[in-house]
Amino acid sequence: MDELGFNKIAGAVLATALGVMILREAPHFFMHSNFPDTPAYTVGPMEVAAAGDAVPLPFPQASWVNAMDNDRGTKVFKKCQSCHNAQNGGANGTGPNLWNVVGSPAAKHPGFKYSSAFTSSGITWTYEELDHFLKKPTKYVSGTNMNFVGLKKAEDRAAVIEHLRLAADSPEARPEPVAAPEEDTTEEMAEAPEEGAETPTEDQAETTTDTTAEPSDTATEETETTPEETETTEEEPTPEPEQ
Ligand code: HEC
Repeated sequence: MDELGFNKIAGAVLATALGVMILREAPHFFMHSNFPDTPAYTVGPMEVAAAGDAVPLPFPQASWVNAMDNDRGTKVFKKCQSCHNAQNGGANGTGPNLWNVVGSPAAKHPGFKYSSAFTSSGITWTYEELDHFLKKPTKYVSGTNMNFVGLKKAEDRAAVIEHLRLAADSPEARPEPVAAPEEDTTEEMAEAPEEGAETPTEDQAETTTDTTAEPSDTATEETETTPEETETTEEEPTPEPEQ
């Protein structure tokens, strides 16, 4: 073999070795630039969730059922009366008449023109759906024509829902309170808010799409916490399919 041939081969070997090194190092390079190595991220939201009231509890809690008070509900309903009538046979206004609404599918009151957001919502007005909806209507059914800020206090929602329950030909039974989860369950559920650290958990279903559309650095954080999330979801004792 002449010298030129040897140089070519040696060059090829070196080039290959260099290529292999680059290929081996490249992923590390990307990994490091993408993943913050501070586990504090995982811990932070858990603590916040445990301390705050963002932890979703099975619905309804006894406190909610106890707040189903028609006297209070009649007062709260004054906020609705500019748009709604809840009398048997009462007229539709800006909003539909609400007689018989508890337990009924959404958007079924005769003679009222609902938004398409409403007609395609697939909601049935269970106590839980009503509670979520009335908390922040425009968020729970995005695109709804119900231009109402919502009832922040759970007691107000429970009370007005009791008022609606009684506005029916044959009122539905009051709901049975569900026991609060045991300690370790609470811990598991406390992890749930990680899924959308920025967003309230009880609206997970809706926010799932939002979350994916968020900037990529948020996505990175989520990737990091994936193993725990998976665990949490599997072990979550209460089915909350609509969330
Ligand atoms: C500014 C007017 C307005 C106010 C105030 C308002 N609503 Fe509504 N509501 C509407 C409209 C409009 C709809 C129909 C929404 C659509 O088609 O998107 C609606 C729909 C509803 C529905 C679903 C009815 C169905 O047939 O599916 C319920 C339940 C309801 N409202 C309860 C309430 C309660 C309770 C309050 C007071 C706490 C309230 N609303 C306050 C306008 C209002």
